[in-house]
This record gives sequence, C-alpha cells and structure tokens, in this order.
Amino acid sequence: MLISFEGIDGAGKSTQIQELLHALNARGVEVLTLREPGGTAVAEKIRQILLESSHEISPIGELLLFSASRAELIQEVVMPALASGKTVILDRFFDSTTAYQGYGRGIDMEVLRSIIAISTCGITPDITFYLDLEPEEAMKRKFSKTSIPLAFQDDELDRMERSGIEFYRKVRQGYLDIARINSQRFVWINALDSIAVIHNRILALLKERFGS
Ligand code: ADP
Ligand code: TYD
Repeated sequence: MLISFEGIDGAGKSTQIQELLHALNARGVEVLTLREPGGTAVAEKIRQILLESSHEISPIGELLLFSASRAELIQEVVMPALASGKTVILDRFFDSTTAYQGYGRGIDMEVLRSIIAISTCGITPDITFYLDLEPEEAMKRKFSKTSIPLAFQDDELDRMERSGIEFYRKVRQGYLDIARINSQRFVWINALDSIAVIHNRILALLKERFGS
C-alpha cells in the first residue's frame, strides 16, 4: 500500500507520519517512510540543490529537478518496496508538483501531467492525507520553537520558503482544487486540530477503507 501526505510547509506532515509509523509498527506492519525530494544518495543531492537558499533556479529547471529526484526514488526504492509487500509512506509526492510548480509557479498543467507520468512510472497513492493550513499559521508554527528574533527569521528560510506568502496562498488554493478533483483518493484534514485528533482520524480512515 502507498500512502502519501501533502500540505504546505509546516502543516504537520512529518509529525503525523511519525505517529502513523509507530502505530503501524506496533501492529507488526512493515513500513517504509520516505520524503520528497530525497530518499536516495542522488535524490538527496538534488534536494540540496533545490533547497539551498542562495540558488536561483528557473521554474522549468525546478520542475525537472524535483522530477529527477522523484524518478530516482520511485525506481530505486518505492517500486521494490511495494513489490515486496511493504507499506510505503511518502512525505510529499507528485501532488506537491501540481500544487507548487503548477498552481504556485504557473507551469502549464499538460506539461506537468506528462512529466509526472514519466517520473512516477504511473504510480499513484492508494490514499493521500492532505493537511490543510493557512500559510500564516504554518509560518507561525515554523518559528514558534526557535529563539530567532523576527528580524533575522528570513535567513532561516530555504529557497522554496523564500517564495513569499502570496506564493503559498496559491499553493494552498491549488491543494484545495486538487483535493476536490481527486475526492476519492484525497482526505482533507483540518491541520488546526490537535496532533492526537488528526492521528486518530487517520487511523480510523485507514481502518474504514483498507481494514488495517
Ligand atoms: P511539515 O512536515 O508539514 O513541515 P511538521 O510536522 O514538521 O510539519 O510540523 C511543523 C511544526 O508544527 C512542528 O513544530 C510541529 O511540532 C508542529 N505541529 C505539528 N502538528 C501540529 C498540530 N496539529 N498542532 C500544533 N502544532 C503542530
Ligand atoms: P521539505 O522541508 O521537505 O518540506 P516541509 O517544509 O513541508 O517539511 O521541503 C520541500 C520543499 O519542496 C517544500 O517547500 C515543497 C517543495 N516541493 C515542490 O515545490 N515540488 C515538489 O514536487 C516537491 C516534492 C516539493
């Protein structure tokens, strides 16, 4: 089974993935968790290029780099893991590309569709948990646990996060559209709920849909 988590930066994806990993491991389910971009030696290098805040990358260059990282991860790790019967949890997958490069950067959706088809080898998640949060709230969360003075917080942002609040508003709007269009696969979750409430909802949904 392939489960993906989506949402803007700081929505709570990694937190929920850790909770789900523990819950599934406790039941004896073999789980592999992976994050995009990254997950192989080459893909991690591409991640560094993409997120290094001093780099300037064109929208198409950015799309191709995210897609190259994905192609590596899918072929080297995800396909073999699924073939051996493991449950794979992805912290972001191709819906991130549609939301960020499509709705955020404005790349043509037909171009995206064909590149996504190539980079994923046609693999689609069985279920996608979308954690919905306003960009302002996500930024507050990101900095709530740091002691960095407000004036210096910009230095802490990676290249994507430097794209600004308007960009993140478009990305969030994109996710809401994607969730509506893919209503069978997508589960909309209010990311303002507590960590425990969200975790229990995810467990209940997995039980309801897949009996596990
Ligand atoms: P993401 O992986 O989507 O970037 P994280 O899981 O790293 O998000 O969470 C970002 C921050 O928000 C972390 O400090 C985390 O502890 C906190 N957080 C996660 N989920 C919640 C929640 N439901 N309510 C409040 N804070 C949360
Ligand atoms: P990461 O730190 O992994 O995400 P988060 O902050 O949510 O924990 O950073 C990955 C960044 O790359 C994030 O800003 C989303 C972006 N991204 C894209 O723009 N397109 C993509 O296809 C993927 C996978 C990620």
